[in-house]
Formats: sequence, C-alpha cells, structure tokens
Amino acid sequence: MKNILITGGAGYIGSHTAVELVKAGYEPIILDDFSNSNPNVINRLVEILGKEVSYFEGDCNDKEVLEKVYAAHPFEGVIHFAAFKAVGESTQFPLKYYQNNVGSLTVLLDFMQRKGVKNIVFSSSCTVYGQPDQLPVTEETPRKEAESPYGNTKKICEDILVDFVKSKAKVKVVSLRYFNPVGAHPSAKIGELPNGTPNNLVPFVTQTAVGIREKITVFGDDYDTVDGSCIRDFIHVMDLANAHVKALAYLEKQEDCFYDVFNVGTGNGNSVLEIIKTFEKVNNLKLNYTIGPRRPGDVVKIWADTQKINQVLGWYPQYTLEDSLRDSWNWEKSLSGELA
Ligand SMILES: NC(=O)c1ccc[n+]([C@@H]2O[C@H](COP(=O)([O-])OP(=O)(O)OC[C@H]3O[C@@H](n4cnc5c(N)ncnc54)[C@H](O)[C@@H]3O)[C@@H](O)[C@H]2O)c1
Repeated sequence: MKNILITGGAGYIGSHTAVELVKAGYEPIILDDFSNSNPNVINRLVEILGKEVSYFEGDCNDKEVLEKVYAAHPFEGVIHFAAFKAVGESTQFPLKYYQNNVGSLTVLLDFMQRKGVKNIVFSSSCTVYGQPDQLPVTEETPRKEAESPYGNTKKICEDILVDFVKSKAKVKVVSLRYFNPVGAHPSAKIGELPNGTPNNLVPFVTQTAVGIREKITVFGDDYDTVDGSCIRDFIHVMDLANAHVKALAYLEKQEDCFYDVFNVGTGNGNSVLEIIKTFEKVNNLKLNYTIGPRRPGDVVKIWADTQKINQVLGWYPQYTLEDSLRDSWNWEKSLSGELA
C-alpha cells in the first residue's frame, strides 16, 4: 500500500481526499497543525473508513516534523493542501500568507528532493485567472495579476513548481486549479468548517438556513449575467477529492521532471441567485436574502473548460449541484457542539 502524505489533511478538501485515497488503495498520512480545522475530524474519518488513520499534529514548515513523519511512514507522494485561505485576511496580514503558503512549499520540495520522494499534487485555484477575458477558462487562459496576497501565493507556488521542475529536480508535479468546492461527504460526518463568518457562499447559505446568520446579501444583481448575479463553477468536494486520486495515478506513469496543470470544475456556471433558489428547492425551505450593492474586486463570471481533465485524467464529476446543496445542508444540520 502506498503512503501518501496529505498536508492539511484535517481540512475541508484534505479530509474528503483522505476518504477517496483509502477507497483507491492508498494509505493517507495526515499532517495538520489544526490551525484551521478540528482534531475531531480524525475521529470522523475513522468512523467513515472503519479503520485507523495515521496522523501527526505539526507544522509542515518544520523540517523536523517532516523527518518524524517520514521516519514513521516513508511516503511516496505528497498532496499539499496546507495553506491559509482567507482572501480578506491575506490583505491585512500578507506576510502570514506568504510565509505559510509559499514557505511551506519550499520546505516540502527541499525535503522531497533529499528523500527522493517524486510525486506532488498541489492545491491551486481558479483565482489565478482573475477576471478572465474569455469563457470558459482553459489551462491556457492567461493568468491575471492577483487580486489579493492569497491569490498571489497560488500564482507564486505554481511558478516555484515550474522552476523546480525546470531545474531538473527529479520531481513530478500536478497543479490542480480548483473552482468552487461545495458539498460534504454524503454521511454528513465531515464537511466544511468555516472559522468565524464564512467567506464562501454555500456555508453562508447553510448558516443562514440554520439561523446562525440573519440573512444573505447578494452582492449585485445588475451584472451582465443570466439574472444579474455573479457566476461560479461549483464542484462537489467528493468529486474534487477524486481528482487528486486520478492526478496521483497519472503522476506515477510519468518520467522525472514533469509538470502539468488541470482545471477541476464541472464546466457549468451557476449564479448566486440560482444557488439560493436551488438550495431552497432541494431542501424544501426558504432563505432570508436581500440584494446589496456590488462588492469591489468580485470576479463577475468564471467557469472551467474541463476537456483537459476529462480527456487526460479520465475524470468526470459524479455529483450534481442538487447533491452538493443537499449534502451541505445535511452537514450543517449534523453539526453539534462536538465539532462546531
Ligand atoms: N476551499 C476553497 O474554496 C479552495 C479553493 C481553491 C483552492 N483551495 C486551496 O485548497 C487547499 C485546501 O483548502 P481547504 O478549503 O481544505 O482549507 P482548510 O483551511 O479547510 O484546510 C487547510 C488545512 O491546512 C491546515 N494547515 C494550514 N497551515 C498549516 C501548516 N503550516 N502545517 C500544517 N497544517 C496546516 C489547516 O489546519 C487546515 O486543516 C488550500 O491550499 C486552499 O488554498 C481552496
């Protein structure tokens, strides 16, 4: 069984990926400092998987921590999720973001080179496309100047990976540019756990439905879109998790010094108002929402061209938007004092 290090494996996308890895016959080794996750997620993973899960509490910027993990469980590949991700906070504390998001990648790559660990999947984001000139965006669509320090860390990390591969370092890299992950494991045992006020739409929707938030404000309904609200490509987190498994299998077949990048989205754009209405319909409830002014810096519309990931990795989403919004709601309802 192949050990795969998952940095940030107790987080939203990492925990779902741990489930998909086990299903595919890999052994996930989780390293997380729980700076943005709850240690109980590990117990939930044990419940879902019906087996123990190897995990370490620690900072992936710390070489000694990596040594300790490797000594206990030599790993053959890495999925690097660990990062800070709050766009607003990144404008206030840019160094915190550069240090953690960029710093940890350099520490990890150096460690991998020394140990001869070859495969790494990196969590990038559609934020690298900024406000795109053409839709849908392909992997060839030019990246735009980042709108925030967070977005810039993703661009810089992609560039570091390209340069590292060019230097003839014997690594093989896939960067996955995630669109908007939503949903939760269908068991409702794991899901997204936002810290404070959610930055993303769907957790805001579920928290409003459950009564934690009074109402949702839709930022603008006069854009040039189907109903005037912004458009995103919402991808179920289980489908996104599965893309990592496919990316690892793909890397295993490549020669050394390899780099590739894939969009991970559904290929469909859905508006903010569509999300609200679909959520209401699927879950049979009413949401309190109002229309507010446009929010500066918002990308108006973006969705993925997914032909590359479909054709090269053979990856296709299995879950619908309705599944995502049902699973997000079931997750929200399941939250108790234990994890919330
Ligand atoms: N969720 C999204 O909308 C989205 C979109 C595009 C890209 N991404 C990227 O995907 C990755 C995972 O995102 P997520 O939504 O699961 O976030 P998350 O915050 O839920 O998970 C990240 C995990 O990393 C851990 N962590 C942070 N710094 C660490 C460090 N130095 N050492 C060890 N652990 C550390 C946190 O405790 C957390 O458990 C991130 O790199 C994020 O930037 C997320």
